[in-house]
Amino acid sequence: MAEPFGAVEVIRTKRDGGALSDAQIDWVISAYTRGAVADEQMAALAMAVLLRGLTPAELTRWTAAMIESGERLDLSGVSRPTTDKHSTGGVGDKITLPLAPLVAACGAAVPQLSGRGLGHTGGTLDKLESIPGWRAAVSNEDFVRQLNEVGAVVCAAGDQLAPADRKLYALRDVTGTVESIPLIASSIMSKKIAEGSASLVLDVKVGTGAFMKDLASARELAATMVSLGTAHGVRTVALLTDMSTPLGRTAGNALEVAESVEVLAGGGPADVVALTLALAREMLAGAGLPDVDPAEALRDGRAMDVWRAMIAAQGGDPAAPLPTARERHVVAAPVSGLLTRLDALAVGVAAWRLGAGRARKEDAVAAGAGVVMLAKPGDEVREGQPLLELHADDPALFGRALEALDGGYDIGGELTPTPLVIDRIS
Ligand code: URA
Repeated sequence: MAEPFGAVEVIRTKRDGGALSDAQIDWVISAYTRGAVADEQMAALAMAVLLRGLTPAELTRWTAAMIESGERLDLSGVSRPTTDKHSTGGVGDKITLPLAPLVAACGAAVPQLSGRGLGHTGGTLDKLESIPGWRAAVSNEDFVRQLNEVGAVVCAAGDQLAPADRKLYALRDVTGTVESIPLIASSIMSKKIAEGSASLVLDVKVGTGAFMKDLASARELAATMVSLGTAHGVRTVALLTDMSTPLGRTAGNALEVAESVEVLAGGGPADVVALTLALAREMLAGAGLPDVDPAEALRDGRAMDVWRAMIAAQGGDPAAPLPTARERHVVAAPVSGLLTRLDALAVGVAAWRLGAGRARKEDAVAAGAGVVMLAKPGDEVREGQPLLELHADDPALFGRALEALDGGYDIGGELTPTPLVIDRIS
């Protein structure tokens, strides 16, 4: 079949600052997905987009073409209103675990196609896979059935969900073209829109442990994603939330599951509870249930009941003991005083080096590995008091994790309180 365009002319148009036509965008995404545009050509186009940007009209079309490259899930068979959450990723960000069953317990359905972690931020599937027996793979029929019977599914995205993004994201990763707001926004939103949820809440993290280190770029990413969702008929809002310090008191797969279960049991760290409730309220409002109080469903055990059903539906045993790491190492406070900073990136890299994360996508993760934070910013500590507990299967990993933590916390000086929810964009 003769191709209607040449890749070189499309690259040149963007390289020289021109706008691509709808037909050019549709063609280049589809031709790349089926292999008629080569990786080196798409890499050049991605770099041109990174340097020149996309107009709002180009970006909407680009996202639509990525959605069209695969299947859009049909959730018309789901009897409850659907709503989902996406986080741009942070350290100790286990919020999906208590949030999905909580929102389901309040009457909405939560269809969440999720990913595995790469680098210092953990993936939701890696956390859930630390539960004995739990399976990430769910067929489309079981997905709809579980949404109707349990109300929440967190599972792996199939190969047919935005395959253009799967290919393009891997290419961007090795060509220095990840850090482009239009490319990030279209990558995330193509997958989320294809998932079929009627409403979506974005948790855009900002701070040292996040993808977006500064507020201005986090705000721009959030606004771009909100307009893409809206343009595709998905009710979308974004919360900008702090990721300068880790969320909660654990970073690591099984450690975060245990902390999430504490939240579902009515306890858990205050920041995890507060963010779970803030996101639950937004999701319920998006689903047309603004008057349901999620705090009540957390208190009375309904969210815990849904959690157990959600884990069991995917083969997991919610009562089974979670894996633990073989070795521990305590980091003690070197002086007495107020803990004024505990850096999210330092803790994230330490947890990663302990085995909780992976460097390449084919690596396995250690379910029990990670960091337990025995003190958080705002706590008074005494010299010699345990601050952090490192968990690993192999004690040889402690050295490199300790290097990552070097300079990662301050005792004394000024505490700059940052609100957990910085802004809301709709
Ligand atoms: N996550 C995605 O899914 N895509 C990006 O481009 C960046 C983060």
